[in-house]
Amino acid sequence: MTGSRQDVAAYESMAPPVRVRGLHVTLDSARILQGVDLDVRQGEMVALLGANGSGKSTLVKALLSVVPASAGTVELFGTDVTTQRRRVPWSRAGYVPQRVGAASGTPATALEVVSSGLLDNRRLRPPRGWRDLALSALDEVGLADRAHETVRVFSGGQQQRVLIARALVRRPDLLVLDEPLSGIDRHSQEALAATLTGLRERGTSVLVVLHELGPLAGLLARAVVLRHGRVVHDGPPPPAAAGHRDPEHEHHHAHDGEPAVDPHRPELRLELP
Ligand SMILES: Nc1ncnc2c1ncn2[C@@H]1O[C@H](COP(=O)(O)OP(=O)(O)OP(=O)(O)O)[C@@H](O)[C@H]1O
Ligand SMILES: [Mg+2]
Repeated sequence: MTGSRQDVAAYESMAPPVRVRGLHVTLDSARILQGVDLDVRQGEMVALLGANGSGKSTLVKALLSVVPASAGTVELFGTDVTTQRRRVPWSRAGYVPQRVGAASGTPATALEVVSSGLLDNRRLRPPRGWRDLALSALDEVGLADRAHETVRVFSGGQQQRVLIARALVRRPDLLVLDEPLSGIDRHSQEALAATLTGLRERGTSVLVVLHELGPLAGLLARAVVLRHGRVVHDGPPPPAAAGHRDPEHEHHHAHDGEPAVDPHRPELRLELP
């Protein structure tokens, strides 16, 4: 890629949010992903489905450069996350990891956790108007009235919603959610569907890991299904994904020891004005 800075910027703004080709991931000599291709185009909302252990979270982590690729390419907004890591526009991506507590680490209020989503590695002070931005993100997940409470006292589902707000506060162009429906009640699931509907109108691209589409069914025109680390379907969501549980999905694993936060961003290192 040659040319002026403007050309580069124009290319990046047009490049697809996600482009994965021939991705292999091997962890502790176990072959977790084997030749995965995945595209998420601008404004598209894609479901990533598959049984427990099929490699969904690993694919999401490879996308965000949390786990290394052993072969293949992963591009975010046209930039290779392995070879051009420092040039990847990380601030354009929001990530809600699978079942993590927002309450780990320093005690912090919901407002502080959400505000931390506005920080990036270069700028440790949140931007002007951070309080209103954070409050409106909390409002989107129905927790504005609890902004000043410590997240330690929140239920698992409420903590999940705080982390969704933390990803939303950046107004990301790409939002990656790993099982956002698990552990939250139907009302909160529907609230999340309404939030995603708003994001779709704004042109946000979304990749969402799910076991069943549930209230998100109407939003997701495409599903990619993994089985044993390979893509076995890429197209309209299979009917079996619509409501009842995937028969291969027996139970939820505990994922202890996973990084509780996006490693590209400082967590809870707050210098709130
Ligand atoms: N660091 C690691 N070392 C070795 N194996 C790993 C590692 N991380 C994950 N795995 C294995 O990779 C496989 C895929 O795990 P992954 O978490 O991607 O599955 P998943 O599709 O997200 O499952 P779930 O539905 O339970 O969240 C599993 O068999 C898991 O045990
Ligand atoms: Mg997972």
